[in-house]
Amino acid sequence: MISYSKVIEGASFSPQSQTEISYQPQQLICLDDSGYITRIIAPTDSDYAAVKQVAQENDILTTLRSNQYILPGFIDLHIHAPQWPNAGLALDRPLNEWLDTYTFPLEAKYQDTAFAKLVYDDLVKELLANGTTTALYFGTIHNAANLELAKACIQHGQRGFIGKVAMDNPEQTPDYYQDASAQVAVDQTEQFIQQLNELNQTTNLKQTPVITPRFVPSCTPASLQGLGDLARKYDLPVQSHCSESNWENGYALEHYHMRDADVLNQYGLLTDKAVMAHGTQLNEHDYDLFSKQGVAVAHCPISNVYFGNAVLPVNRVLAHHVKTGLGTDISGGYSPSLYQNIRQAVMSSRLLQDGVDNQLSADKRGVPDSGISVKTAFYLATLGGAQSLHLQAGKIAEGRLADLQVVSLQNNFQTETTDNIFEKLMYQTSKADVDQVYVQGERVR
Ligand code: GUN
Ligand code: FE
Repeated sequence: MISYSKVIEGASFSPQSQTEISYQPQQLICLDDSGYITRIIAPTDSDYAAVKQVAQENDILTTLRSNQYILPGFIDLHIHAPQWPNAGLALDRPLNEWLDTYTFPLEAKYQDTAFAKLVYDDLVKELLANGTTTALYFGTIHNAANLELAKACIQHGQRGFIGKVAMDNPEQTPDYYQDASAQVAVDQTEQFIQQLNELNQTTNLKQTPVITPRFVPSCTPASLQGLGDLARKYDLPVQSHCSESNWENGYALEHYHMRDADVLNQYGLLTDKAVMAHGTQLNEHDYDLFSKQGVAVAHCPISNVYFGNAVLPVNRVLAHHVKTGLGTDISGGYSPSLYQNIRQAVMSSRLLQDGVDNQLSADKRGVPDSGISVKTAFYLATLGGAQSLHLQAGKIAEGRLADLQVVSLQNNFQTETTDNIFEKLMYQTSKADVDQVYVQGERVR
């Protein structure tokens, strides 16, 4: 009989499509040495009892309680690691003022590598405790600090995609926190790619470097060009912010006489490995461009309430076949939990559908067909994020990475249907209910 490295017995929920989930009441999820789900055995399969018995004898069987459920680990598709100390603070100003007043001064502190280590250890542990097995991180301009983030991911067992932030436009960045020139921004980015590749020699859980122009206003045309060239040279993911707010959307129009998305595209930054945060001000032209180029949107519904100046029409974005996932955008978003962001994604979509100005008649107030279900929000946090990162994760299926969370349902009243159970898990799970977390087959919590 084939030997597995771990076997988990229990019930699971997994995304099936953008609107459907699948439920399995009982199964053996069998993991291999390289951290993949190699086989899923149903109770009706002839070798269920035998595999279970061998797993038990080898002490590699984990059997879940009746109120526990296995879900794919969540993928945070947009988070600023250095902003963790500000999570829950300072959300009283629009984006451009918020950056200058609260965010750049905090990020500048990561010059101090010891401070970086302290914060990044805490953040990575917190995200794992909330069921987030993969994160697409913005770091800071400081490579020593960015390496501490990568080390924290390796040490605590999280799959990290990490970017050295490039920001060299002296007109839109403070002199105490900027890359000294376009050349420096690009050279430091290339150095970080090499440093991370070296660090990866020491670990099975690879950390991926990401080309990270902060956003169009922070960068000069020369750095955008150089970063686009690096993205092509190394075939790496790209991340940035695109049309996040009225101000950002207007900046490109004013300075380049182009749409924000077209500026990024002109410099080779809109690839099929690109993830653009927010996109609340994108128009039909931009959706078509994203769809054609294979660019993903990281929807950050909590942050959007403060900075987006609009609700992202998720159904419209998905209808344009644009890959879409979910992000916390710490600290533009106050919560490290993707459960909270799943809830906000549903709630914001309902506000978009109904509209919010009670002085307008109901038929003029909202945008029809905008509401998303909690199943769609779950899809964004799992499979949508995995597709955006070209990751074989986000789903419980043979051949997928074993990036998993086990959560328990405390409130077991009114759970007659599996949809009831699923909805309660999405709306009521807190950090305390996330009992086990696996990344690439390793139990990390
Ligand atoms: N645009 C440029 N930088 C940032 C940032 O740190 N957070 C958010 N939400 N938007 C940005
Ligand atoms: Fe952001």
